[in-house]
Amino acid sequence: MEMYDNENTVQKSFDIDFLTEYLVQAQWAEFIELKKIITELYYVKGNPISILDIGIGNARVPKHLSGIKEIWDMIERYDGTDNAQTCVDISRKVIAELGIEDKVNAFFMRHYSLINGIKNMI
Ligand SMILES: C[S@@+](CC[C@H](N)C(=O)[O-])C[C@H]1O[C@@H](n2cnc3c(N)ncnc32)[C@H](O)[C@@H]1O
Repeated sequence: MEMYDNENTVQKSFDIDFLTEYLVQAQWAEFIELKKIITELYYVKGNPISILDIGIGNARVPKHLSGIKEIWDMIERYDGTDNAQTCVDISRKVIAELGIEDKVNAFFMRHYSLINGIKNMI
């Protein structure tokens, strides 16, 4: 069982009522930077880009990106992984409610296995 499989942790980490003002503002600052990077990559590539979100949480990022059409149109695919099944379940619910399943997928994956696997190969 991973940390974010705990319901109390999930609620306190993702419910805006439990976040400090500092964290809320940090998340928005991070979001502004992310939009800049997506825009830059889109213009460099000349085509919509694909995003892999390791640790999708409650799908907060694709949820807000999908709310801005000009940014959302720059994204071809958005795949999110999480090592907590609770987060995958929440994300799938959010994705379905927003009707963005054509572009977004959330799936369970333990990334330390991947990192350890690469370490073992070196
Ligand atoms: C602080 S939350 C951030 C969630 C989301 N990216 C956001 O910005 O709102 C971190 C997320 O990463 C996930 N996570 C932590 N370690 C992970 C790992 N090794 N592999 C995949 N997901 C992981 C947690 O379950 C949690 O959902």
